[in-house]
Amino acid sequence: MPDAPWVSVEDYKLPGWADANQKIARSRAYCQMLESGQILLFHELPFDLPADDRQFLVSQPWSELRLHKNVSYRPGEDILRGVAGDSTTVDRVHSILRNYSTQVLRFAAEFLAPYAGKWITDFSSFRPLEEKGRDLPLHKRNDLLHVDAFPSRPTRGGRILRIFTNLNPSKVRVWNTTGAFDELARKYADDAGLRQFASESALSRAVHGLAGKLGMRGADRTPYDAFMLRFHDYLKENSDFQANYPKARLEFPPLATWMVFTDGVAHAAMSGQYALEQTLLIPRSALVSPDDAPYRILEKITGKELVS
Ligand SMILES: [Fe+2]
Repeated sequence: MPDAPWVSVEDYKLPGWADANQKIARSRAYCQMLESGQILLFHELPFDLPADDRQFLVSQPWSELRLHKNVSYRPGEDILRGVAGDSTTVDRVHSILRNYSTQVLRFAAEFLAPYAGKWITDFSSFRPLEEKGRDLPLHKRNDLLHVDAFPSRPTRGGRILRIFTNLNPSKVRVWNTTGAFDELARKYADDAGLRQFASESALSRAVHGLAGKLGMRGADRTPYDAFMLRFHDYLKENSDFQANYPKARLEFPPLATWMVFTDGVAHAAMSGQYALEQTLLIPRSALVSPDDAPYRILEKITGKELVS
């Protein structure tokens, strides 16, 4: 288990951030903590999100009928998905998520300066439904411990960084998490089939590479990406792991913001309603501590390259 379930960030916006050298050193140290599996917690909003917008999001009559799994926003294309309803409401949600994404990206570019300009901006989402007791198929359940992997957006060894905010004005959001990825991988990766993924033939890799160039969805997956998709499902399917693996319970207070590499830190959302989230894909070349990346840990276990 980590020494502490999270690291509370107390120095953001304090004078040190105005000094260029100190700022670079602090930023780099925070990137290092994240990459090694720490969760960084801000007790207060570290970016601008107007109270009116927060109030609007938490006061809508959200229900399963009006939603897919979440409301999602794609910053690159300015597309909102997952909301049905009258156009005034949809337009307002769209504009709130557009502004949220802009603000959180601006904050991340400063706070995590080593990644700025190098990341791929992925989707943001709003999660308006109570997590406790949701009726979802097993592989889509949020309340089972898992590491993240995206079927349609292979990272090729890059990492999945997520920034969450608990918008609930009065209730905590509760997570369970486990310890470091290397312990998890050493215990379960073989049973999840890592060695079969690692021995995928050169011909099969070439076919995947060609299909990827032709734009087929998810076809440019490396063996690492394929394994991580399997590992996500394997962990959710494994009832012994869910019940018995050491875990920590985290309670994120109202308006707290936290950031975490969710491809390395297993997590489960146990309860909570109304969260905003922005995902960033950090390429291998931008990592400050590449030996902590799951692809490197898995390569060490198998002795084979997984991201070529
Ligand atoms: Fe997740």
